[in-house]
Parts: sequence; structure tokens; C-alpha cells
Amino acid sequence: MEEVLRALSEAYGPSGNESEVRELIRGMVESYADELRVDALGNLMAIRHGPGKRVMVAAHMDEIGVIVSHIDDKGFLRFSNIGGLQNLTLLGNRVRFADGTVGVIGCEKLEDRSKVPELSKLFIDVGASSKGEVRVRVGDMGVIDRSFAMAGSRAVGKAMDDRAGCAALVLALRKMGECRHDVYFTFTTQEEIGLRGATASGFGVDPEVALAVDVTATGDTPKAPTMAVSLGGGAAIKVRDGGMLAHPGVKELLVRRAEERGLPYQLEVLEGGTTDARAIQTSRAGVPTGVISIPCRYIHTASEMIDLGDLESAVNLLLAFLEGEIEL
Ligand code: CO
Ligand code: ZN
Repeated sequence: MEEVLRALSEAYGPSGNESEVRELIRGMVESYADELRVDALGNLMAIRHGPGKRVMVAAHMDEIGVIVSHIDDKGFLRFSNIGGLQNLTLLGNRVRFADGTVGVIGCEKLEDRSKVPELSKLFIDVGASSKGEVRVRVGDMGVIDRSFAMAGSRAVGKAMDDRAGCAALVLALRKMGECRHDVYFTFTTQEEIGLRGATASGFGVDPEVALAVDVTATGDTPKAPTMAVSLGGGAAIKVRDGGMLAHPGVKELLVRRAEERGLPYQLEVLEGGTTDARAIQTSRAGVPTGVISIPCRYIHTASEMIDLGDLESAVNLLLAFLEGEIEL
């Protein structure tokens, strides 16, 4: 579990540039799936055929990052955000581009140092002394460059959102016995910029029921916003977030399966943010959709933290859902 998570966390995959992650996952699932498909938006589907319902399970491969918008004569890059980058966490961080170029995020002289700087005040220094030495080009994307580490039983790294969800799908697929349903394990693209991969693949798969597996915030750090989810409390079963209400039948079935199997779980009410489930739920004429969430601290920073026990309970809950009858 730790090694799968490490490899996924450290892979490069800003929105729209998921091929490295996709190839990594392809290698992890190839021999466990009946069929693999990639659609026009780059969504990877690992399919296990079975006689029951057509079920889509989605986790997104992409991560937040930066996109180069301008390069000045001295070789400093200006950039815009890909997804919900938090300016507060950027200064001094390193970014890495697809070609291996590494840069440091620096900041102009600020009028008021007590305020978080606008993105327009920040730049990336790739170690060049002129524009000609810069290998990256306008439009290239970088991700935060940060290695994976264990802190006790907690895993820390970039892009746990949502490589932890990808890991859950990989591990569930590997562990799944005989397949009762037609299950589309879908590794989606472009979630962080508006659920775009899930919008296309949700339509393409045309599921009868769907789940997303993604991270959610916690309320258990000093003076955190009040929230009933904590790290180590088990997988969270979403009731609502900023973009959707989970289908009550799917939510209740997840609760029932967790209780039957004695799996730790928590109920999640998240104020902001949403997941691929929102796009799938409203696809075509509508799809009963729920979410299994992995509690995560410091979301959208360079060091997102999850508990391995929570990841394990998410895998087991997903399996319990897929291995049983799905009557809503
Ligand atoms: Co995210
Ligand atoms: Zn996510």
C-alpha cells in the first residue's frame, strides 16, 4: 500500500497532462482487468466484467499545478494556477516540469508583508541567467516538487488529492474476487479544473450507479473549521459537499456495508469543494452517485497528509459495495 501510494504521489500529472500517471496506473492494473480503455480526454478505464449492474468508480489522476504565462529577458517565469493553488503555501517551494526542469518560487518586494501575495507578485527561478537558457516554454505546466514520506502511520506527500483515491481503486481492483457487477474503475483527467474528465467519461460509461473516491478535509487540527471528520477515523461516507448531495440510497448502502463488515466510517458534511461525483450524478438523465472520501489534512499544499488505516478502510468499503447486491 505504501509503495503504491509513494509512486502515485511522486508522479507528474497536472490537469490535462496525466499521461505519466496513466501509464503508471496502467502498469499497476493491467493484469487484473478484463479490459482497458482510454477515451479522447485521456480517462483510463480498467473494466472487470460481471453480470450485475454497470457501476462506475472514479478517482482523478490530475493534480494542481502552475502554468507558465511569460518568460522575461533574465529568464524568470511568470505563472498562473492550474486548479486551487494556495498562494500562502507557495513561497520557497520548488516546481518541476515535464522535462525535469526544477524551479524555485520567489516573490517581488512586497508593500505589505503581512498579506498573502497575489500570484502576480510571484515568479519561478529555474536557475537561468537569460531567456535563451530557459528550456520550458509558455504554456508548459509544473507541479510542486515534493517527495513522499511516512510520519508515523500517516503518509505525507503532494497530490494525495487524489492519488490516494487512485491507490484505493488500484488496491480494490487487485483484491476483488469474482465480479458480481460490470465495474468500470475510471481514472479521470482534469478534475481540478472543473470535473472535465468525469463529465466525458460519466457520459461514455453510462453507469447505472456510480461512486467517486476522493479526499476530504478534516476538522481535527488546531482551530480547524468545525467538521465531524478526523484523520484515522476511517473512510468518510459523503452526505454532501459544496457541489452535490450524495444519493441517499447509495449513502445508506455504504453505511450498511460498513456496519455489516465492521469497518470504521464517518459521515461527511463538507462546506466547500466537490468531486467527480457531481459531474457523474448529473450526467444524461441522472445517475445515483455517492462518494467514499479519504480524510486528508493540508489539502492543496505540498504536504497533504492521510492515514494509511483510512485508506485501507476506503479500499475495504469499496470492495464491500462492489461485492454485494446493489439495490437502492
Ligand atoms: Co483537489
Ligand atoms: Zn480531488
